[in-house]
Parts: sequence; C-alpha cells; structure tokens
Amino acid sequence: TGQQTTTAASNGATYDSTFLKACRREAVPHTPVWFMRQAGRSLPEYLKVREGIAMLDSCMMPELVTEITLQPVRRHKVDAAIYFSDIVVPLKAIGIDLDIKPGVGPVIAEPIRTRADLARLRDLTPEDVPYVTEAIGMLTAELGATPLIGFAGAPFTLASYLVEGGPSRNHERTKAMMYGDPQLWADLVDRLAEITGAFLKVQIEAGASAVQLFDSWVGALAPADYRRAVLPASAKVFDAVAPYGVPRIHFGVGTGELLGLMGEAGADVVGVDWRVPLDEAARRVGPGKALQGNLDPAVLFAPTPAVEEKTSEVLDAAAGLEGHIFNLGHGVMPSMDPDALTRLVEYVHEQTAR
Ligand code: CP3
Repeated sequence: TGQQTTTAASNGATYDSTFLKACRREAVPHTPVWFMRQAGRSLPEYLKVREGIAMLDSCMMPELVTEITLQPVRRHKVDAAIYFSDIVVPLKAIGIDLDIKPGVGPVIAEPIRTRADLARLRDLTPEDVPYVTEAIGMLTAELGATPLIGFAGAPFTLASYLVEGGPSRNHERTKAMMYGDPQLWADLVDRLAEITGAFLKVQIEAGASAVQLFDSWVGALAPADYRRAVLPASAKVFDAVAPYGVPRIHFGVGTGELLGLMGEAGADVVGVDWRVPLDEAARRVGPGKALQGNLDPAVLFAPTPAVEEKTSEVLDAAAGLEGHIFNLGHGVMPSMDPDALTRLVEYVHEQTAR
C-alpha cells in the first residue's frame, strides 16, 4: 500500500540521516545537532500545551507526547527528535507509586531499601506502556527522515531515585546499600536492567532509530566501584538491545573518569559533559566509538559572540574525531532563550558544512 511505501522510503531516508551516520562514524555533510531536554520548559509552545496537565499524565497521552516531541524539531531544525517522557515512566508503569514534583523531580512514595522491596520491581511488558507504542507510531509517521531517539534511565540513576526516595546530592542511602549489602545492590540493579532493557525494546520495536541510556548521576562513583557495581547492569541493558543494531548512546554528568568504562559497557556513542574536551575524551574512550557533546549549557546565557567562540572550541576539539554529534554537556535549562538554541543549531551546521 501507499502507506507501506512511504514508511519504507522514510526508513531509508532516516537511516541515511546525518545523525545516524555520525553515530555509525560515517562521513556527514555537516555535524548533526540535538539537545538533551530540547522538549520542555524553555519553549512557550510547550508551556501552553502542558497547561493544567501533570508531567506524568502528559507522558501517557500519545497525541500530546507527539506534539511536544515535534516542537523542538520544528522550531530549532535539530537533526534528531528525542521521545518526550521521563526516566521514571517505566517504574510508574509497573506500579511503583511515584510522582514528578515541579521544581524537585521524581519522588517515590515508598523507597526500595530491603530485599522484600525488590518484589515490587516486576517485569515490564509492552502491555504496560501502550501509550509509548502508540506515540512512537504517530511520531515516526510525522518525522519523515528525522530520526527519533528513544531513552531510558540507567540502573544506577534509577536505583538512586528508588533508594533515596527522591533527588539526592550525595546518594548516601544508595551508596550505603552498594557498599554495605553488595548482593542486594547487585540484585536491585539487575532487576532495573531487565526493566530498562524491556522498555528500550518497546521503543525500538515501535520505531525509535537510536537509544540513549541516561546515567545522569553515576559521576558520583569512583571507577573501581563503577566497574564492580554498575557496569554489569548497564552492560546488560546494552546487550538486550544489541540485536536491533540501532546506535546506543550512553551519557552521564561528571563522568570524566568513567568515560572509558561507559564505552566498555556497550555504547556505540559516548556522551560527554563540558568538563572534558572532546579530543581528550576520545583518548579516554578509545577507538571505535562516536562522541556526543559537549558545550556547557550555561554558555547559552552569554551573548551570541561568546556562544560562537565557545562552540568553535568544541568543534575544534572534535575536528579529528570519527563520528561527532553536537549536543550540550547536559540538558537545556528552563530559563534558556529558545532563539539562542535555534541560532546555535544554525551556527554548528554552517561551521561544519563540507
Ligand atoms: O530530552 C527531552 O527533551 C526529552 C524529555 C526528558 C524529560 N526527562 C522530560 C522532563 C528526558 C530525556 C528526561 C530524562 C530525565 N528525567 C533525566 C535524565 C536526563 C538528565 O537531565 O540528566 C533525569 C535525571 C530525570 C528526572 C527528572 N525529571 C528531573 C530531575 C526533573 C526536573 C524537575 C524539575 O521540575 O526541575 C524531571 C521532570 C521533567 N522531565 C520535566 C521534563 C520536561 C519538567 C517537568 C515539567 O515540565 O513539568
């Protein structure tokens, strides 16, 4: 049918997009750009459609998810869309009582702290998240050649929210479990790896053409602890989606000392925050992987000439890389000027045109 022909054609065009080519370390006509947290509160059109709808409720409304995911693509002309959701959505979907509190983040009603609590982390099936399959179907039809990035929270970052009961600066209870009851910890992150792997599979089956595993807070760990207590679980997630052959991106904040290990966990693309220049990051990650990053998001609050200067520094450091996806070193902040982001996309495209 015409529908199938269109889908097949756009899938081919998606495969040949600059974003997916850069993930595969192939030559590109210009460096692709997208921004973590590009969909959200920096956009007036987002605030408008979210009015009166709670964050978690919005994640379960396929039409709304589709609209919000498309907003930054339309406005900024970024080279990839990221599925609008949150890292705690799969936990909510398996029945964990939690909420996302504005200005705070995810809050868990009954934290997971004992072996008995683990039983609450049951397997996730596609039937638990029908709205994800539905939204991604709608999105891929709308996006044409622009790839859609699916995502999930990594076992360590999810465990931190579950054990602490909410956002945490020092991850005290999380580390107490990790160091004090290594077997309980290993079983917890293994359960989370199963759930996360299943959640990413749902997104890929529905049409996501890349996935990013956010281990936002894992920079709190030393390399030896990461290797022993976290890497096996994150590797299990990457292994679960390996058969699909879609690029797997791995990102965390403050992970300069962990970049090599995060690549080793099974990523095809390693996300880098702004603290390590990309040429140095490439040495730490080693050959065979693309890099994503890494402009300090706060630079966007400076005047345009300063943004361009700092962006050029990132591009210069990335010049020798095989496979670079331009991004911020962490997410877009709600108070950012959306026009500065649009100009940044244009600037990177112009400066890297070949
Ligand atoms: O990148 C995108 O555009 C897709 C959307 C996205 C959201 N959360 C939407 C959201 C993504 C990829 C996430 C992932 C996420 N959620 C992470 C990993 C990324 C990172 O920033 O390190 C983490 C740690 C969370 C947990 C979380 N959820 C936090 C810390 C917050 C912010 C709380 C606040 O109000 O300051 C949320 C809520 C959230 N997730 C919002 C959005 C747009 C804001 C809530 C709202 O708009 O009402």
